Amino acid sequence: MKLPHVAIVGATGAVGVEMLLCLEQRNFQLSELTLLASARSAGKTMKFRSEDVTVKELTHDSFAGIDIALFSAGGGISLEYGPSAAAAGAVVIDNSSAFRMDEGVPLVVPEINPEAAKNRPKGIIANPNCTTIISLMALAPLHEKFGLETVIASTYQAVSGSGAQGIVELEEQVKAIANGQDFESKVYPRQIAFNVIPQVDSFTENGYTKEEMKMLNEGRKILGHDTLKVSCTCVRVPVYRSHSVSLTAQFSKEPSVEEARAAYKGKPGVQVVDNPANNVFPVPLDTTGKDDCLVGRIRKSLVLEKALDLWVVGDQVRKGAALNAVQIAEIL
Ligand code: A2P
Repeated sequence: MKLPHVAIVGATGAVGVEMLLCLEQRNFQLSELTLLASARSAGKTMKFRSEDVTVKELTHDSFAGIDIALFSAGGGISLEYGPSAAAAGAVVIDNSSAFRMDEGVPLVVPEINPEAAKNRPKGIIANPNCTTIISLMALAPLHEKFGLETVIASTYQAVSGSGAQGIVELEEQVKAIANGQDFESKVYPRQIAFNVIPQVDSFTENGYTKEEMKMLNEGRKILGHDTLKVSCTCVRVPVYRSHSVSLTAQFSKEPSVEEARAAYKGKPGVQVVDNPANNVFPVPLDTTGKDDCLVGRIRKSLVLEKALDLWVVGDQVRKGAALNAVQIAEIL
């Protein structure tokens, strides 16, 4: 079998760097690695398996001979260059939202719907939204057992979800406040240091943000569940890395807490960390740099019938983006 020639588009970004790390840590078998970014980064070197790889400028001619192209440079770049990569024969694994709801593009979480990756008429596979992936890692095993009907979610999303610039803005604001200096908010609509912002992405006509609508639309597509109901409030919090989600999930069958915990047994990529009597529950720092999503605080809803309240945390740069994309490449 010929080993694939892999390219990372946006290799210098927060997710691109993590993709490189995932390929290395998972000992991904490849024949060659091409790193692509903007003209600003052309000529820089990045380490892969102790060797220096020179970053090249992304152009429409970058994809000759490439078998798998991992895109993470924003939706505009995916829309402009993704079709060129597919036309050159590469399978595109796109981390942006550009193609996610396209009927000819599968939307894949390898632990949940790996078979969907096989049918890709446009040569493109989409990586879902980070919050959607992390939430579904907690919900899919329960859906399998009890039949998920309705989800009410509130998210606590780290600044690394906005790329390297989100981390810089939080850091600069914390330093400025500590030193009594003035500062501006450039990345976020309000101060992010020592604050929380109930807006992730832009608002749509129904008052929900695009991020909130992704939980509904992408959740339905990944689970193949057209009648799933999801209502969500996405909130940016001053956490560096790892998203947390508070979920209320209602099912067609009554789940007990014990049965819910048992539903995760043997499921890859998700672990139950749930011992409230000893203050054991997952927090963002527990999952930073880790592959698995952690589920805790599983309890019966006091409001809804056949419903559970639970809490899930996952590293959104990793399982929410880079790792999920590399796992899709592994399926190929
Ligand atoms: P560069 O570092 O050269 O700007 P993040 O989301 O962490 O900010 O990363 C964005 C990634 O997308 C970076 O690798 C960035 O490269 C890349 N990128 C941004 N604009 C372009 C462009 N016009 N062409 C190619 N890559 C781009």
